[in-house]
Amino acid sequence: FSDRDAAARDILTQNDRGGYTVPTDGLYPYQWNWDSAFASLGFAEFDLDRAWQEIETLFSGQWDNGMVPHIIFHKPDPGYFPGPDVWGCNGPIASSGITQPPVALSFATRLLAADPEAGAARFAALYPKMRKWAEWFLKWRRDEKGAIFVIHPWESGRDNAPDWDDAMSGIDPQDVGYYERRDTQHVDASMRPTKYDYDRYIWLVQRAKALDWDDAKVAEGNPFKVADPTMHFILMRGLRDLLAAGEAQDLDTGDMAAQLAELEAGADALWNPGMGYYDSYNCNNGIWSNALSNASFLCWFGGLDAPHMEQHLARVLDAAPYGVPSLAPFDPRFDAKRYWRGPTWGMMNMMIGEGASERGVALGEEVRKRTREVIGRYGFVEYFDPMTGAAAGGKAFTWTAAVWLAWAG
Ligand code: DGY
Repeated sequence: FSDRDAAARDILTQNDRGGYTVPTDGLYPYQWNWDSAFASLGFAEFDLDRAWQEIETLFSGQWDNGMVPHIIFHKPDPGYFPGPDVWGCNGPIASSGITQPPVALSFATRLLAADPEAGAARFAALYPKMRKWAEWFLKWRRDEKGAIFVIHPWESGRDNAPDWDDAMSGIDPQDVGYYERRDTQHVDASMRPTKYDYDRYIWLVQRAKALDWDDAKVAEGNPFKVADPTMHFILMRGLRDLLAAGEAQDLDTGDMAAQLAELEAGADALWNPGMGYYDSYNCNNGIWSNALSNASFLCWFGGLDAPHMEQHLARVLDAAPYGVPSLAPFDPRFDAKRYWRGPTWGMMNMMIGEGASERGVALGEEVRKRTREVIGRYGFVEYFDPMTGAAAGGKAFTWTAAVWLAWAG
């Protein structure tokens, strides 16, 4: 796969829109939060200055309350729905009103590690903003058991995962009104969320917009509040990395050590005792998703030892040859091509594989090998069928290229 490195760099360069990178042309024409963080890791392999710029541009959209939006609409693009008018937000740059998993916290510390001298000032400038974002999560996205929850499936980034099914079934979107989807004009509808899902995605946006995106009002009586291992483990990792870098750089670490300890304790709330793995649950009624997902395996990335998760990883890798799927293939809800209900995602595999290897779990290296194989053979697409390896979703995808450069390739 030796020509792959150059092709991966080309994708990042082609998706560069000047200071930020789109996930892929057409389907996702703006700056997405966690996609951008992965882009910066990819750029760091050949242009560290551009890597820093990616994260700096992301934080230029940070709201006063500390939230960093999941989409920043730098320039209008009619090819995407829902655009800025549907969100109706008042941040410093037009944006969505929800956030996304804060991988940028961790990845900024990697840019610093890549060249501490060149990065020290840039890191120090981002550091208070990053801490503020972490504090916003702890204040507005933490339930009484200490688990981090999401208020929209898009916030988790795992848009149509079965994890949200119970909460979504409690929403009656009949007043959502007419809207026209754009995603299915770019990608086959069988690989995308259903209309049932979309009606509820848009309904949730309309509800929060009517409440002026006020954190307290949006939280109150929200039918969608789901404790999510994606968000919890990635925030845990982010805080840990930020704390270590802050200490090394002699910056004010404030309460970060205590906050991290609270998050570590809160991870217990995500342990589904009936199933024996990390899982999500509906905060409004306590119902578990009973979903062994790729987010369940982020426990190692989050910094836990989690010995009980190894057997689950082995079982999933036995059942699916092409990387860790977004849902275990033996789950009746598994759908090999439908987005987050089955497909393999390179960036999730990176966090799972890397995290596992760091904690001494031998299968971490197997995850890396399989990710290398599937990307090497089928290309830099959005995601893959975990049973056949077949390419799926958008083409020329930024984070898949970045994962190749930074880890898999
Ligand atoms: C989409 O539009 O499908 C995105 O995933 C929302 O973030």
